[in-house]
Amino acid sequence: MFLPNEIEIIEVGPRDGLQNEPSAIPLEKKKELITQLAKAGFSRMETASFVHPRWVPQMADSEEITQFCNELGITYIALTPNFKALERAIAANVPQIAVFVGASSTFNLKNINKTTAESLIECEPMFDKAKKRGMFIRAYISMVFNCPFQGEVSFEEVNTVCQRFIELGADEIDLGDTNGKADPKIVYERISRLRDLYPETTFVGHFHDTEKLALANVYAAMQAGISKFDSSIGGLGGCPYSPGATGNVATEELVNMLTRMGCQTGLDYNELIKISPFAKSLSSR
Ligand code: HMG
Ligand code: MG
Repeated sequence: MFLPNEIEIIEVGPRDGLQNEPSAIPLEKKKELITQLAKAGFSRMETASFVHPRWVPQMADSEEITQFCNELGITYIALTPNFKALERAIAANVPQIAVFVGASSTFNLKNINKTTAESLIECEPMFDKAKKRGMFIRAYISMVFNCPFQGEVSFEEVNTVCQRFIELGADEIDLGDTNGKADPKIVYERISRLRDLYPETTFVGHFHDTEKLALANVYAAMQAGISKFDSSIGGLGGCPYSPGATGNVATEELVNMLTRMGCQTGLDYNELIKISPFAKSLSSR
């Protein structure tokens, strides 16, 4: 059994957790959630998304949220799907950005209105500009295992995006099981293959818990050598353009499992279960 001594957990609740909510969440409540999570000791959090407010209304206050995060002095990540989003992130003094491209082109078209190939072309000037500004670049590959529109996603489709992200200089590559349909076998096999091809690359696991396999998938990814994972407090979340997907693996459940296995996360389960009810109270699902 391969167990890393230390695991980094990146909290994505304020972004992935809230983006899919059907009704508006007051800005003050979002700030309260971020404050509570910051006190719990996360080294990084995903808090904002510079998408179009017409496409994802819940993220329309991202400028206000990033200003708040700057005042709090935390390290946070904001999603930037295109060049315009990057410009908004630069204007907002964001330290870390996340680009996201689907391995499945059908999903990518529905999610950001471009084919996978078109998005990868747009990534070129984005990486260039972000790197010149010294921004940390997280690069998500979505639908790494399965897609709600096309079904199976091939390793080659995933590798096309992965290879390009590495060529462009991504600081980490986040592997998204966007619709939560992966199982531990495919997770282990696919990630092992990527790690063999790119041993110097930092990979992150991002597992949605649609079929209650997210913890098992985290464990399989650990066996394949990953030691960074995204999670969402209270298990909130989903992607508005990934029908049927539920939230990310719940942060408190992940920390509980890892702590019991002797892995250090720097986080305290007992503190997290105090925050979880507040996070869930923001969700109408
Ligand atoms: P578009 O309509 O194709 O944009 O949207 P466009 O380039 O054709 O421009 C149309 C208008 O939008 C123009 O304004 C642009 O300026 C404006 P007009 O001239 O008509 O007044 N515009 C923007 N405004 C604000 N912010 C922007 C922006 N870009 C253009 N960034 C766009 C393209 C990417 C904006 C749209 O498709 C979009 O917002 N998509 C967001 C989808 C999304 O947020 N999905 C959820 C996040 S991904 C996810 O959850 C998966 C993840 O968790 C990992 C995993 O689970 O796998 C990350
Ligand atoms: Mg997600």
